[in-house]
Amino acid sequence: MTLKNKVAIVTGSARGIGFAIAKRFVMEGAKVIISDVDDDAGQAAQEELAALGEATYIHCNVAERLDVRNLIAETLNAYGDIDILVNNAGIVAGGDFLDLDIDDFDRVLNVNLKGTFLCSQAVARHLVEKIENGGEPGTIINLSSINSVLAIPGQLPYCVSKGGVAQLTKTAAVALAPYGIRVNAIGPGSIMTDMLASVNSDPAARNRVLSRTPMGRVGEASEIAGIAVFLASSDASYVTGQTIFADGGRLPLNYTVDVPEA
Ligand SMILES: NC(=O)c1ccc[n+]([C@@H]2O[C@H](COP(=O)([O-])OP(=O)(O)OC[C@H]3O[C@@H](n4cnc5c(N)ncnc54)[C@H](O)[C@@H]3O)[C@@H](O)[C@H]2O)c1
Repeated sequence: MTLKNKVAIVTGSARGIGFAIAKRFVMEGAKVIISDVDDDAGQAAQEELAALGEATYIHCNVAERLDVRNLIAETLNAYGDIDILVNNAGIVAGGDFLDLDIDDFDRVLNVNLKGTFLCSQAVARHLVEKIENGGEPGTIINLSSINSVLAIPGQLPYCVSKGGVAQLTKTAAVALAPYGIRVNAIGPGSIMTDMLASVNSDPAARNRVLSRTPMGRVGEASEIAGIAVFLASSDASYVTGQTIFADGGRLPLNYTVDVPEA
């Protein structure tokens, strides 16, 4: 019960990594706001997690300022406080560099980067007010990616957005450090979720991923959730502005190292 009675918002948590984080948070005693644009999946997630502890679903498109404002207001209505924000909502839109559609670029940047900023700023404003009234500082966790530092030419908007999330993490961490508010990120490699479905169902694409993953397997969403619990907990009380990469060894891999074919 590392997070007993903490109030946590997890964006994009109807499925995938966000759901796994929401589930671990509930199991650690937190009161969790599941938030998504997919209301059916969000309601189903709430039902599943409410059987384990305290969970409430609130609709929120993180790219929409009014939705974000409503998310904060409804969370405070439901639980009276916010301690933890996990900016997990994220999308991809691939395309060749020369043909890339500007609308796809905007869509991905709006959700992955602007959405992370909007939610962070709104929650940080609440946290600062709480601290000035004698309350405890809270913490923000962003979902970055190995693609914050590695390039996929066919996924330019995604890579750019995650590079932005990496800088947002560091900049917000320094801006909010005087209040004791910590801001960190998790940088997953390839994790088995719907987002990875196209890679997983294509043997050649899967092999490309695994041939560059020294641990020889993709990760599970629960392996990301464990890091989120650590970063949200007091065990990480002196950690801020960091990205913890969980990638089966992908980033440390040098081209001189042989990795067996999967
Ligand atoms: N799966 C991976 O391999 C991987 C690797 C690195 C980073 N990540 C990051 O982890 C996060 C979660 O990824 P996932 O694999 O669980 O994805 P997913 O596609 O399985 O789930 C994403 C969830 O976000 C929701 N969502 C989409 N747009 C939204 C919006 N505008 N507002 C609110 N919710 C929205 C979706 O409805 C969905 O429930 C993303 O930020 C992603 O970039 C994933």
